[in-house]
Amino acid sequence: MYRYATNNNNNKGEIVMPIDSFSQFKEHSVAEFFKKNKQMLGFSGKVRSLTTIVHEFTSNSLDAGEEVGILPEIFIQLEEEGDDKYKIAVQDNCGGIPEKYLGKALGQLLAGTKFHRYVQQRGQQGIGASGCIMYSQITTGKPAWVRSGYKNVIIECNIGINVSKNTPVITNLTKTMGEFSGLRIEAHLGDVRYENSGYGVYEYLKQTVLANPHAQIEFIAPDAQRYMFPRAVDVVPKPPIETKPHILGITANDLVEFSRRIKESRISAFLAEEFSRVSSNKVKELQELLPDIDFSQPPTSLNWDTAEKLIKAVHTLKWIAPATDILRPIGKENVARALQNILNPQFIAQSDRSPQIFHGGIPYQVEVAIAYGFTNGAHNRIMRFANRVPLLFDAGACGLTEAVKTIEWKRYRIDDFENMPIAVFVNFVSVHVPYTSAGKQAIALEEEIIAEVRNAIMEAARPVKGYLNGIVHLQERSSRRKVFLRYVAQLAGDMSELADMPKKKEAIKKGLVDLVEHRVGLIEEAEDAEAETAKEANAANGAVANGQENGNGKKDFEEKGE
Ligand SMILES: Nc1ncnc2c1ncn2[C@@H]1O[C@H](COP(=O)(O)OP(=O)(O)OP(=O)(O)O)[C@@H](O)[C@H]1O
Ligand SMILES: [Mg+2]
Repeated sequence: MYRYATNNNNNKGEIVMPIDSFSQFKEHSVAEFFKKNKQMLGFSGKVRSLTTIVHEFTSNSLDAGEEVGILPEIFIQLEEEGDDKYKIAVQDNCGGIPEKYLGKALGQLLAGTKFHRYVQQRGQQGIGASGCIMYSQITTGKPAWVRSGYKNVIIECNIGINVSKNTPVITNLTKTMGEFSGLRIEAHLGDVRYENSGYGVYEYLKQTVLANPHAQIEFIAPDAQRYMFPRAVDVVPKPPIETKPHILGITANDLVEFSRRIKESRISAFLAEEFSRVSSNKVKELQELLPDIDFSQPPTSLNWDTAEKLIKAVHTLKWIAPATDILRPIGKENVARALQNILNPQFIAQSDRSPQIFHGGIPYQVEVAIAYGFTNGAHNRIMRFANRVPLLFDAGACGLTEAVKTIEWKRYRIDDFENMPIAVFVNFVSVHVPYTSAGKQAIALEEEIIAEVRNAIMEAARPVKGYLNGIVHLQERSSRRKVFLRYVAQLAGDMSELADMPKKKEAIKKGLVDLVEHRVGLIEEAEDAEAETAKEANAANGAVANGQENGNGKKDFEEKGE
């Protein structure tokens, strides 16, 4: 009989000492954690793993281009090296990484220039590139080779990761002076596969260009086929502006933590300097609410109790909403041009939403475009983006998909959303994207975000409805004409025979056609006049209807600056 470990007799009746599990107690590095849980970084499935790697390197290049204000030129090459083995080379012209940070940036997980900042960027964790280099190492045993050109100093070296310590391992480093300004990474990859599917590298790059029309991407596929995605606009996008955390998003824990690592000497200055929208007047209001706290004390004097009181008081006051001009959407014109290039649809409609705030006072903005009627046969696509990065995976768990799926499409004359030639493009931009995992492929199911995305979709869907109504209308008119004209030839023949004037058949036919055109024309004119009157009446009621449908999603913020 099988005995559970809780029973200290084995099946021979001998006494077995229980294992002391604490003798197994160990610490692990974050690299070890992600090595064991690599699916959390997007390394699950061979095709997805390869797309993830291209995605991480490409989005780093685009971020770097934006930081230094240049038009990115990105080169990506994949070469097959064996069964499910490829070599990847990614190169950009985006300024490179200085020698001092090169190892940590690429050979240490959770290290980078983005995690601690409130700025709209594609990366935000400090784990993307280093995760890929770790994946390369654990699937082939080889380090990556890197060339970084930063301010005329070119560093070339191999970079690997000491997984148990989460530290970079740099070998064969050389330093020269030269013109190259950018980063080139070459890595050997195992357990990956190139596939030309909706989840593959090609599709990923196609969508990347759609959302980044200022970037030029050249891709050489494993079969040596060269794909060139030229840039559609020659203007460097304005770099996103860094902001500070909004006071309404701060917890007591944040306050205590922040207070230990700042330079200000008084609590009052600490509040005003470190958080967005805290003016000296607001500090005074807080002081009045909290007479027991001495705001002239150093911030290090803030303990948990005072921090909790402060945060409670913060929530009783009204604050100006976080700045939203710091966000960088793609822009209606660019989105329309890109959709036109890729899908060549008959019709495109777009939303025009202003930035909003989600919990924690984090600014975000949603851009939606709906494209209808493709010539390339594709249909029903939801194209999701976050900070201009395509999200190809985990669609089912994503707030953006949820928003699209919960729209009553029939209200917009889209009777069969699954099978009609319709693409919904959604771009979510924010200084902090609430991803569901470190793999950055799905946005959390946050109610406020879903509601705003739905509003944006409904806004764009209305003109689509108008367009589809128009098509149906034209089809109805055309079939009405056909019905009348169908009898004209027969009638002209019969009439000319009855009158015994066979030579007049063509003249009678022409007369009848003119008569039909004239009569149908009169009917259509009357219909158009009726439609115009209805449109004017709708427009008069429209503001109310739209307001009800949209909601404005506004928070209870102060209206003006102080
Ligand atoms: N192509 C590049 N050009 C310049 N700097 C780069 C480039 N790639 C990476 N870096 C630097 O290396 C750091 C680490 O990159 P990594 O992809 O690991 O993390 P991240 O981009 O900060 O965040 P995420 O984990 O969300 O991708 C970046 O923060 C950036 O400073
Ligand atoms: Mg990154």
